[in-house]
Amino acid sequence: MAPSRRTDRDTFEPGEQLAAPDRRPTRRTVLTALGLGAGGLVLAGASVVGVRGATNGVWTSGQGDPYELWSAWPNLTGLNAIVAAGVLAANPHNTQGWRFHVDGAAADGAVIEVHDDAGRRMPVTDPFSREHRAGLGCAVENVVTAARGQGVDAAVELLPEASDPEFVARITLAAEAAPTSLDRARAEAIAERHTNRGPFTADPVGPVDLAALEALGDDRARVVFVTDAADRTALGDLYVRATEGIVADHEQSVEGFAWFRNDRADIDRHRDGLTLDAQGLDAFTLAMAKLLPASSRADGDEFWLASTRDIHTASAAAYGVIVVDDALDPAAQVTGGRLLQRLHLEATRLGLAFHHMNQVTERIDRARATGAADDYSDEWSALIGAPAAHGLVSFRLGYPERAPRPSPRRPIADVVTT
Ligand SMILES: Cc1cc2nc3c(=O)[nH]c(=O)nc-3n(C[C@H](O)[C@H](O)[C@H](O)COP(=O)(O)O)c2cc1C
Repeated sequence: MAPSRRTDRDTFEPGEQLAAPDRRPTRRTVLTALGLGAGGLVLAGASVVGVRGATNGVWTSGQGDPYELWSAWPNLTGLNAIVAAGVLAANPHNTQGWRFHVDGAAADGAVIEVHDDAGRRMPVTDPFSREHRAGLGCAVENVVTAARGQGVDAAVELLPEASDPEFVARITLAAEAAPTSLDRARAEAIAERHTNRGPFTADPVGPVDLAALEALGDDRARVVFVTDAADRTALGDLYVRATEGIVADHEQSVEGFAWFRNDRADIDRHRDGLTLDAQGLDAFTLAMAKLLPASSRADGDEFWLASTRDIHTASAAAYGVIVVDDALDPAAQVTGGRLLQRLHLEATRLGLAFHHMNQVTERIDRARATGAADDYSDEWSALIGAPAAHGLVSFRLGYPERAPRPSPRRPIADVVTT
C-alpha cells in the first residue's frame, strides 16, 4: 500500500503505512562552515543550489512521509495513539530496534507486546545491548504514558517469558479513572519530544526542575545530576576523550557511519538512522551542508568530535546519568530506559533541551568486550558518585538555543502486527 500523506485523520487501519545518526553528519563543508563563516559558504552554496537543492530535502526538513507520524500523532485516538507512541520513542542511533504485536481492538483490554528486533542491534558500539534495551524501555514508557493520557491503566511485565529473551514487555491495558491534567500534559509531550544536539544557553537548570526530574526515579532506576562547574568540565573532557577513542576505533566508527543517512533519498528509503536535520545546526549551516556533496566517514567523525568539544560539552548546563544496580542486566536496561524516556518527556514539558550522550559507556563496554584497557571507568565512577557498573546511560540538559528537528520513523505497518 502506498504511504499516506494525510495528517488530518484520527485513525489508521491495520496494515496501512503511516509514517522510518544521532550525531555524525558527514559533510566536510559543515565543518568548514563552522570554521570559515558565512562568506565562503554563500559562494560555495550558490554554485550547487540548482543541482542538489531539489533532491536533498533542503526545503523539506522534517516533512514528508518519514516524519508524518510526528504531526499525525496528536490527532490519533484510542489504541492507535497508544501503539504509535511506542514508535515515537527515543532509541539509539535511531535504529528503531523494536516490533510491536497488538492483541485486541480497543484500548480497554488490549495487550501490546514489545519485541526486540535483534537484527537492528549494534554489536560493536553496544556489545551488551545496554542502549538497545534502554531504547526498548523508552518505547514501553511512551506506550504507558500515552495510555495514562487517555485514562487507561497499563500493567507492564518485563521479559515475561524466560525462554524468549527478545520478548521485552507485555503491556496489558485496562480502563482506569479519568486522566489528570498532568497525565494529559505528559502524553502531549510525546510528539513534542526530540533529541536536541544544538547549543544550549548559559542558564543553569533550576533546583526545582532538577528535583522534579529526580522524583521520577525509584529504587530500581534513579537519575544522578552533575551540575558543579568543575565536575561538568571534567565529565565534558571525559566525553571528548571517549569520542576521540570512538573515531580512532575503525570498527566502531564504521558501524556508527552505517546508520547515517546521507541525503533525502536515503532517508525516504530507510526512514531510520541519523540525519543532518537532527544535528542541531542553525538553518543556514544546515542548508549549506545539504547542498554540498556528501563527505566521508572521516569527515563526519571530525565534525562529531568538534561538535562534542565545542558545542555539546561546552554548553551542557547539567549532565544526567541513569543509575541501576547492574547496567548489563537486561531487565535493568529496560527499566533504566523507561526512566530515560520519562525524564525526556518531562524535560520537554518543562521547556528543557535534552541530548543523549553515551560515548563514555560505549568505550567502557568496548574495552570489556575486546579485553582492552578501560581508561574511563575510574573517572566515570568518581564523577557520577556510583560504581561504574551502575551507570547505564547519560545525557546533557539545559535550555535550548534553537528548537530540535524531528527524526524519521519507519511505517507503522513495518513494525506493528495484529
Ligand atoms: C539509549 C539511547 C542512547 C542514545 N545515545 C545517543 C548518543 O550517544 N548520542 C546522541 O547524539 N544521541 C543518542 N541517542 C538519541 C537517539 O539518537 C535518538 O533518540 C534517535 O535518533 C531518535 O531521535 P529522537 O530522539 O529525536 O526521536 C540515544 C538514545 C537512546 C534511547
